[in-house]
Amino acid sequence: MPPTNPRKGWEGYYRANQDRPASPLLRRILGPDLLPQGNRQAIDLGCGAGLETASLLNARWNVLAIDREPRAIERVEALAAGQSGRLVTVTSCFEELEELPSSALIHAGLSLPFCAPAGFPRLWALIAAALEPGGIFVGHLFGDRHDWASYPEMSFHTREEVEALCSEFVIELLRESEGDGGLVPHHWHRFDIILRKS
Ligand SMILES: C[S@@+](CC[C@H](N)C(=O)[O-])C[C@H]1O[C@@H](n2cnc3c(N)ncnc32)[C@H](O)[C@@H]1O
Repeated sequence: MPPTNPRKGWEGYYRANQDRPASPLLRRILGPDLLPQGNRQAIDLGCGAGLETASLLNARWNVLAIDREPRAIERVEALAAGQSGRLVTVTSCFEELEELPSSALIHAGLSLPFCAPAGFPRLWALIAAALEPGGIFVGHLFGDRHDWASYPEMSFHTREEVEALCSEFVIELLRESEGDGGLVPHHWHRFDIILRKS
């Protein structure tokens, strides 16, 4: 879970995460069982320190990395040194994205909950439209029992709402978990999601 209060900025989070391995969820879909079908284009929504973008570049994907924080984009560009021909970066809020390129893989690690509730349905529709047939979405949503669920600028979902969002896809993984922890201790309630567009 984010080890920092998102209202206090992301640099501490990027520093705390800069040496961890890439997300287990992302590694899972890059294995032989779930490999996305379609083009070699991936999108990393809310790329943060850029570890998942770097992992995708190492696996020979073309990556569009998006984050609203210029420091995140600087970090991802530095990590991609030598592979920048396959990396495109965009500094933008999710709420202001107008379109996403057709992609076989869309990763959103611990990032979509930071989209404002008013912008979330449009963002989800952009993701669904951008995925190629056979393509994979992999990422997280936060549940309504999360400690931060009272933050009006963030998006939280009940189990039923998550199931409704997933209903237009083939569900490869829908795992709900809850617990206490983080560098700034809090109660977290999270959905780990892997979806395939049919
Ligand atoms: C918890 S971090 C996750 C970073 C990375 N995906 C990871 O798993 O380590 C959330 C990221 O989303 C970005 N973010 C938050 N709200 C955003 C928004 N509305 N639009 C675009 N990016 C946003 C933050 O700048 C931050 O880098």
